[in-house]
Amino acid sequence: MSPHITSKLPNVGTTIFTVMSGLANQHNAINLGQGFPDYQMNEELMNMVSEVMQKGWNQYVPMQGYMPLRESIAEKIESLYQTRINADTQITITPGGTYAIYTALTSILQPGDEVIIFEPGYDSYIPNVEINGAVPVLIDLRFPEYKIDWTGVRKKISRKTKVIMLNSPHNPTGAVLSEEDIRQLKDIVKDTGIFIVSDEVYEHLIFDGIPHQSILRYPELLERSFVCFSFGKTYNCTGWKLGYCISSPSSMTEFRKVHQFNCFCCHTPSQVALAEFLKNKDAYLSLNGIMQEKRDYFIELMGSTKFDLLNSSGSYFICAKYNRISDEADKDFAIRVTKEHGVATIPVSVFYKAGTDNKVIRFCFSKKKETLETAVERLIKI
Ligand SMILES: Cc1ncc(COP(=O)(O)O)c(C=O)c1O
Repeated sequence: MSPHITSKLPNVGTTIFTVMSGLANQHNAINLGQGFPDYQMNEELMNMVSEVMQKGWNQYVPMQGYMPLRESIAEKIESLYQTRINADTQITITPGGTYAIYTALTSILQPGDEVIIFEPGYDSYIPNVEINGAVPVLIDLRFPEYKIDWTGVRKKISRKTKVIMLNSPHNPTGAVLSEEDIRQLKDIVKDTGIFIVSDEVYEHLIFDGIPHQSILRYPELLERSFVCFSFGKTYNCTGWKLGYCISSPSSMTEFRKVHQFNCFCCHTPSQVALAEFLKNKDAYLSLNGIMQEKRDYFIELMGSTKFDLLNSSGSYFICAKYNRISDEADKDFAIRVTKEHGVATIPVSVFYKAGTDNKVIRFCFSKKKETLETAVERLIKI
């Protein structure tokens, strides 16, 4: 008899990001699919990491993360959201935002628990829930604004509801939560045992002067929340895979039990450099403006195509309808545009478990001007 794995995730295959990036390479296409910048990250931060490595910061730090970095994060949160966080008991440095979300869900969930997940949604949430034997309860965001239908949420809450997953600014749509959303959320969870896992990796990519409705602004929500962040998204270095999670002290104790036997601690030199670099407020406060410029430039260029862009108030992404071009299924359309026109995108149906196809594709605009220009020159011809 040979060893056999009974898959914990029988329905999971290769993600569409890998597929589309592979197709983009194969056909020499411009990749507006996967969410990463194609320009260099901050030079000063790169130099700082290299300097601290030379100085010998190359061994383990404590499993919670390098304390001066946690202190810098706590200071940043107080200045942004007027909430005091205890750097010792409420912050853990993680290898990226995705890991923080996985660890939070794994800390909370027992088999049979239900987790409310909005769709379209980031693709790691459902497998993270299922691997813990819990049940995703899926709710569609209202198309085409991609707003949360709170009446629908109330109907889906049951005695088994353990977590509501939030993501603002939102991937794939660029939708953001409003104060009214937070009011509804507070009302729904009060006097319940429901946790919130809030994916805020695009915290610093929010446009048009809209304030980011971080859970960190609301101490009564933070008590029942795990809030997840990514340095990769903030500092244009998605390959660093470094982030952090914030929760109440008692929740963080459980989070660290899972974390310490999975990763233990994260890359030391990056943490030491970031502890200093985080004090430079401009480096993160300027991001909204830089990314908004890219969004606006992309919108202007796309005006000459037959795509109809939807609204994007944040993130790296903007979605577009293509019904003036084709009535193909979005996957077929995205594959054909990559192969025949040399621009890779992501079909939004892949962000729905049931593959709901509103004939919408997602563009990533966190790219150099020239990249956006060349891509649109090609898209104009469709
Ligand atoms: C909504 C969302 N959450 C989390 C992540 C992942 O963050 P990290 O690379 O830090 O794991 C991404 C990356 O695309 C994302 O879009």
